[in-house]
Amino acid sequence: MQIFSLTLMLPILFSSLVLLLLLLLLPALCQWRSRNHKRLPPGSMGWPYIGETLKLYTENPNSFFSNRQKRYGDVFKTHILGCPCVLVTSPKAIREVLVSQADLFKPTYPPSKEKMIGPEAIFFHQGAYHARLKKLVLASFLPSAIRGLVSEIEHLVLRILPAWDNTTINTLHEMKRYAFDVAMISVFGGKQDLDMEGIKCLYHRLEKGYNSMPWNLPGTPFHKAMKARTLLNLKLRKLIKERRESRKQGGGLLGVMLSAGDNDKIDQLSDSQIADNIIGVIFAAHDTTASALTWVFKYLHDNGDLLEAVTREQEGIQRKLIEENRRLTWDDTKHMPLTSRVIQETLRRASILSFTFREAVKDVEFEGFFIPKGWKVLPLFRSIHHCADFFPNPEKFDPSRFETPPKPNTYMPFGTGVHSCPGSELAKLEMLVLLHHLTTTYRWKVVGDEDGIQYVPFPVPKRGLPIKVIPRKNR
Ligand code: HEM
Repeated sequence: MQIFSLTLMLPILFSSLVLLLLLLLLPALCQWRSRNHKRLPPGSMGWPYIGETLKLYTENPNSFFSNRQKRYGDVFKTHILGCPCVLVTSPKAIREVLVSQADLFKPTYPPSKEKMIGPEAIFFHQGAYHARLKKLVLASFLPSAIRGLVSEIEHLVLRILPAWDNTTINTLHEMKRYAFDVAMISVFGGKQDLDMEGIKCLYHRLEKGYNSMPWNLPGTPFHKAMKARTLLNLKLRKLIKERRESRKQGGGLLGVMLSAGDNDKIDQLSDSQIADNIIGVIFAAHDTTASALTWVFKYLHDNGDLLEAVTREQEGIQRKLIEENRRLTWDDTKHMPLTSRVIQETLRRASILSFTFREAVKDVEFEGFFIPKGWKVLPLFRSIHHCADFFPNPEKFDPSRFETPPKPNTYMPFGTGVHSCPGSELAKLEMLVLLHHLTTTYRWKVVGDEDGIQYVPFPVPKRGLPIKVIPRKNR
């Protein structure tokens, strides 16, 4: 009897247990089911783990992105650099990621890059700390703050250019040196009580490791870069301590950061916060501007009539300076409409930052698609800058297209939203000052016939554009 009731009871007990388990798991199952049935953006995730990374590196990035945009539309998925990504290519969608829904998409960088620049640098943060830093960085690079730098920047140009007379130079290397020196002036202020050459040398080692594989083993570029980072940090911390103790904060971004908290201790930045941001801003300032300037050389070289027109504009200013017996000022740089349009068109055509990286901080509904938490989201500035709907005949270098302002949200060489570039005015200023002297004094010929683009990591003309520089009077 006992055996009979047990055999009868066992299935009942078992089914009740299963039922109970199902009831308990039901909410989680429903959530899993709905998450997996939400529509991810169209696109291919490529091979397991490597995804489409090899294709990105073997194809021209322009065609990699535009082919997929044609096939899948303005929002599509892929898997690159070890991460599932959603690529975003319409002005409206980019604005959503970077402006209207910016709190859902945080900036993201590989941990090795964060370590190398410094985890407390502005790029890696959101919210109150980011806003506090952004206020200080913007204050240091506003037109009112940098207008006084014109004569020092011009001084640099007048030191660099004569060394090029009748020689062959690597444009990118020279522009990196120039942009680095301008960044140092703007970050440390005019009169410098520091070992410029020492800092430059450490920076150079840091940069070499920045674009290498992040293997921290003795002898690797990454390891050398991390050692240079430690030394750079020590140098900066010593300088910060000296300036704090002497109460001479000095000018530039460092001066502004040291003065933060003068009225309220809560706003004070620690030495490591200041050091990370100094290193970070110099990083952001020089490679980008150097790449853009290298393209200006290329486009003016390839468009002879435009070069002559820019020269005429600059000669007009030169005549005025001679008549008034003075040097270039900020106001002069605001009266260079054609040269400014050449810079605008260079930034569009070359699109130095092809895209930027964000990460979904939670599951997000976006443009009718589902983006899971943790996926990377890449707004593609380059696609917009090369879209014929916004810039007719987009592959043509044509500064006159900027005689009328571009449609809203279609021109973003300096990004948009809370993380947009605080250095845009400085970048334009240093390009204008260089172009004033370059076009009125020199002509240049590209050496070799190798056309094309190289990514270092920003797009630059092949081999950094070697050129032979000839004084105009000798032609
Ligand atoms: C032609 C030259 C330059 C280009 C094309 C450029 C482009 C950009 C872009 C597109 C961003 C936004 C990135 C994002 O949203 O993730 C950015 C951010 C930034 N740029 Fe520039 N930049 C240039 C020059 C400079 C200069 C001269 C400085 C020096 C002050 C600078 C400092 C920064 C900083 C600090 C950020 C981060 C801002 C933040 O996270 O709030 N950049 N830049």
